[in-house]
Amino acid sequence: MRYTVRDLARMKHRGEPIAMITAYDSSFARLVDDAGIPLILVGDSLGNTLLGHRSTVPVTLDDMVRHTAAVVRATSRALVVADLPFFSYATTERAIDAAQRLLQHGGAQAVKLEGGAAHAATVACLVRNGAAVMGHLGYTPQSEHVVGRARVQGRGLAAAHRMLADARALEEAGAFALVLELVPEELAGAIAARARIPVIGIGAGTRCDGQVQVLHDVLGLDREFQPRHARRYAELGQLALAALTAYASDVQQRAFPAAEHTSTMDAAVLAEALARADQRKDQADATD
Ligand code: KIV
Repeated sequence: MRYTVRDLARMKHRGEPIAMITAYDSSFARLVDDAGIPLILVGDSLGNTLLGHRSTVPVTLDDMVRHTAAVVRATSRALVVADLPFFSYATTERAIDAAQRLLQHGGAQAVKLEGGAAHAATVACLVRNGAAVMGHLGYTPQSEHVVGRARVQGRGLAAAHRMLADARALEEAGAFALVLELVPEELAGAIAARARIPVIGIGAGTRCDGQVQVLHDVLGLDREFQPRHARRYAELGQLALAALTAYASDVQQRAFPAAEHTSTMDAAVLAEALARADQRKDQADATD
């Protein structure tokens, strides 16, 4: 049985921290599920981590549906949240279509969108129609052309006040949880304390109800990119590079494949097959 939004609400109520991480494909999603992580985000960060884009802006709804379906197929316990990509919720009508595709074709259990009070009516409409919606405040990567590069949001009085109001608007609209990205710990803690829904932080300190991280940051899959808010629990990028270098060298030196990777056949059968093939070729040559 998968976790539900009610389970997450109960975890908040009990003060049980909620772990969330991104996954974009079946192989890693299976590992995340096996690790017992209750919440998976099919983030549009796949634009950077998987597709080689410089931002999340080029990610399309088709991209999101395909990767969401792969994650859902490989998991049975985690609740899967799929990002609504850039501009797919510019109007409520578009948001309904996009959410429908992610939930029906992708198989996600929830969708996430970036932005606050300005999107409250859209969130309310999606929720009214039975979609579970997660909000995303603080640094919102889809708005990079407006807000600029990734940096902490909400330090000033006006920005902090706006974020508190945005969080309340999303909760009142029916969002089941919020992500706070790059927010000062004190403000994130205040939002989490006031909200009745789980508040999940990334670069938002220790006082949120849970933490979300990008898989590639946590596993060290990108050897160069290491954001300050992430802890590397493994160096899979280095491990993979060493493994691939060893593989290439083995092939070059004919050290791979070895006997255990190889199947054999009866020599007499092969001799007979070759003889018949040669006979057929001789006959063909004779009729030319
Ligand atoms: O797309 C993503 O990975 C995200 C996380 C940074 C929360 O939205």
